[in-house]
Amino acid sequence: MKKILFVCLGNICRSPLAEAIFKKKLLEHGLNDQIMADSAGTANYHVGENPDPRTVEIAAKHNVPVNHKGQQFKKSHTDEYDYLLAMDQSNYGNMVAEMGEDSEKLMLMRDFDPYGKGEDVPDPWYGGMNGFENVYQILNRSLDDFIVFLKKKHDL
Ligand code: 4NP
Repeated sequence: MKKILFVCLGNICRSPLAEAIFKKKLLEHGLNDQIMADSAGTANYHVGENPDPRTVEIAAKHNVPVNHKGQQFKKSHTDEYDYLLAMDQSNYGNMVAEMGEDSEKLMLMRDFDPYGKGEDVPDPWYGGMNGFENVYQILNRSLDDFIVFLKKKHDL
């Protein structure tokens, strides 16, 4: 079983949406018994909370079921997961600080985006629904390429 952790700041917008889209794709690819996913935030502001209502709305618009409670990223996740995908450079830096060192497991979500490799998934928290739609589109195409990468790398 390969284990993936998606990480943003608050764990109520970007990373729970990435987790939800990815889980739907795993089902579609028949990979749900070989790969599992969860999400976390580097901040503790929203621990135990449901995803932001705008996250739920954009997911529903695209027929993606969302089911997550906020949790904070911690050092032990590094051992527990095979891939840690940060949504932006700031999250990445916060994760390195928590882990005490960089790790080969740590990547940026948009390392897998064919349009904007290595860029940040923009934080949609202060904006409106168009920001959430933009995040959905970025995540949807990046996660397609991430699945191609996982299949190839692990012969799935
Ligand atoms: P996320 O968005 O990191 O994509 O979940 C945010 C959610 C909450 C806050 C910031 C960003 N906040 O400051 O509470």
